[in-house]
Amino acid sequence: MKNIKYSLKSEKQIDIVFSSFFENFFDYTKSRKITERFYFIIDKNVFKFYQNELLDVIQKFPNSSKYILKSKESNKTIDSAQDILQDLIKNSYGRDTFLVAIGGGIVGDLSGFVASIYARGIKFAHVPTTLLAIVDSSIGGKTGINFGETKNLVGTFYHPEFIFTDTYFLNSLAKEEIISGFGELFKYGILNEKSYFNKIKTIFNKILIDNSVEIPQKIIQKAVEMKINIVKNDEKESGMRQILNLGHTFAHAYEIITNHKITHGKAVLLGLFSASRLSEIENLPGINLSSQIAKIIQKVDFGADFPKIEMDEIFTILLRDKKNRGGKIKFVLPINFGELVVGFESEQANVELAIIETFNLVKK
Ligand SMILES: NC(=O)c1ccc[n+]([C@@H]2O[C@H](COP(=O)([O-])OP(=O)(O)OC[C@H]3O[C@@H](n4cnc5c(N)ncnc54)[C@H](O)[C@@H]3O)[C@@H](O)[C@H]2O)c1
Repeated sequence: MKNIKYSLKSEKQIDIVFSSFFENFFDYTKSRKITERFYFIIDKNVFKFYQNELLDVIQKFPNSSKYILKSKESNKTIDSAQDILQDLIKNSYGRDTFLVAIGGGIVGDLSGFVASIYARGIKFAHVPTTLLAIVDSSIGGKTGINFGETKNLVGTFYHPEFIFTDTYFLNSLAKEEIISGFGELFKYGILNEKSYFNKIKTIFNKILIDNSVEIPQKIIQKAVEMKINIVKNDEKESGMRQILNLGHTFAHAYEIITNHKITHGKAVLLGLFSASRLSEIENLPGINLSSQIAKIIQKVDFGADFPKIEMDEIFTILLRDKKNRGGKIKFVLPINFGELVVGFESEQANVELAIIETFNLVKK
């Protein structure tokens, strides 16, 4: 895959390097003349799968240390951030620390948050190891932790120095996590054009049947480029970047009411359906997108624990969404491929209908 360099409006330049982590990470950091002391935060499953190779890389960095994190939403918290901060202090890390986050979105969001607050900000890099982190969460500088019952409520905008992407890591990723990553990929399909959406769908259908199917590099690269193009012009989500929240207002509520028993990506898939149904219920002009998403959702296993609808609870969560303004829920609604309405306020009855139809789709 082609390496990508992109510059933010703040003129910071970020490299996305596509290369073998185990063969080339050390040399790459050498070529960048990084003089800071390295600190690695590593996802526990990634460490389990690649322990020897990871230790070989880490031992090349003098005086470095590692922190292993069990990735689950209930660990993306202020307590985990505090534990890492204490470990940094215990190991006498100062402002000259270079933090490397090796893992999925949970390790990435939490590590980026810690990097942004430790010693008023230390340098860091992402090594994304899930499909979702490769195409989405590692790019764009959003860091965060869950707080109380609200997802990502506390966080910062803080960009890494570089993102080192190696799709080799996907070989050990559970099929359900690959499927989860498709939630965000389908979002990019809707934000782009029908032919891209259909290509994603074709690969998705193959993966459902055959675990060994690889995701074509072109599909990954296009999502990465789309995210870059959107965030580089709107770093702090004051304009166009809001379209990346497509499906997410609903998704965050679905994650919370299921107590995170469904993954973020799968919740996004449901959220994409809810948003497109709401768009149709509101009679926004457009195509019948929801039926296409419904066909995808019906093939996905959401687990036996999917709860009954508690509409009051869902609305309490929707009303806490940090994108709301003036106490009103703001939705991003699709009307066609590449065409969206941002900041849409809906009647409660219409939102409820979209939610009921979403729940009815989930395989029990
Ligand atoms: N910052 C952003 O812009 C942004 C965007 C989208 C999502 N997110 C956040 O990302 C999180 C979800 O990220 P995720 O889907 O990557 O989940 P995750 O980080 O929990 O990883 C999923 C699972 O895969 C395991 N894993 C990771 N890499 C592996 C590998 N290579 N081999 C085997 N197992 C591996 C992890 O241990 C975990 O069990 C959510 O908290 C979401 O809010 C952030």
